[in-house]
Amino acid sequence: MLKVWLNGYSGQIGQAINKLLDPLQYEIFCTDKDELDITNVDSVMSFGEINRPDIIINCAGMTNVDECEENKEEAFRVNAIGARNLSIIAGKISAKLVHISTDDIFNGTKEKPFDEFDEPNPSTVYGKSKLAGERYVKEFTRKHFIIRSSWVYGYKENFVTKVIRTAKNGEVLKIANDQYGSPTSAHELAQFILYIMNTNEYGTYHMTCLGVCSREEFAKEILKQCNIDGIIQSVSTKQADFTSKHPSYTVLDDLILRILNDYQAPTWQEALKDYLKEVK
Ligand SMILES: NC(=O)c1ccc[n+]([C@@H]2O[C@H](COP(=O)([O-])OP(=O)(O)OC[C@H]3O[C@@H](n4cnc5c(N)ncnc54)[C@H](OP(=O)(O)O)[C@@H]3O)[C@@H](O)[C@H]2O)c1
Repeated sequence: MLKVWLNGYSGQIGQAINKLLDPLQYEIFCTDKDELDITNVDSVMSFGEINRPDIIINCAGMTNVDECEENKEEAFRVNAIGARNLSIIAGKISAKLVHISTDDIFNGTKEKPFDEFDEPNPSTVYGKSKLAGERYVKEFTRKHFIIRSSWVYGYKENFVTKVIRTAKNGEVLKIANDQYGSPTSAHELAQFILYIMNTNEYGTYHMTCLGVCSREEFAKEILKQCNIDGIIQSVSTKQADFTSKHPSYTVLDDLILRILNDYQAPTWQEALKDYLKEVK
């Protein structure tokens, strides 16, 4: 039976992966900050050496973009050093490492999607710390999958749940009309992670649901699919609700998956429909 060590299992993506991991197929070790702090190299090394997982999945991270701006050291500690520690142990015990990264490593000023060969150029502390994490993964372990995704919503408070709650309260929603991305359900991302981790096709992947929209279009689709009559005010990021500092255009092009003809994600609207059915 393959052993899987899932870090950050209580986060949005961690929960989605945990739901899909079949305990009959895998021996699963779930840890989060309370059980094991990935920034502590000794804890990471001893957990890995004792349990000897075949696959390590890193869903742990400091993901609040505003908090990262305010606390740069902690952002780099978790997103860069944490990733480094996991890649050192992965290399040492010859485990595969799945590391989740983000569209924020790009600085979207062009209106063209970024593929895996575009040069990262992050503008935020969050993006810079995530890029540093990717670099450590590449440096310390050969058997890695770096999976970049964007606008992920799952089983914790997120953009979708906030839009629904605010509209149901009858409040006006101020939504950004100047940020573009590909909304991706944590479930779809988790399905892809389970698929790719069982291959030997190592490297960096862009994986999002298909299609592109603005935050405003995303919010409108959420309300439409929920049959809620909300009032949306179209504003810029500076005035918007639920939107942090973020480059305006960081759409990811899944070039590698297209070339390999490997994996077909659903459209973001289809994935949203499935998500709403599940969480209702
Ligand atoms: N959400 C997105 O749109 C998105 C898009 C692309 C990539 N990603 C990446 O995907 C990963 C997971 O994202 P997510 O949305 O699932 O984030 P999330 O819901 O914030 O979950 C992250 C988890 O990591 C835990 N954590 C934080 N510091 C830790 C530490 N030092 N040691 C161990 N665990 C720690 C958090 O615990 P606490 O809650 O207690 O702090 C939380 O349970 C992150 O690396 C993120 O950068 C996310």
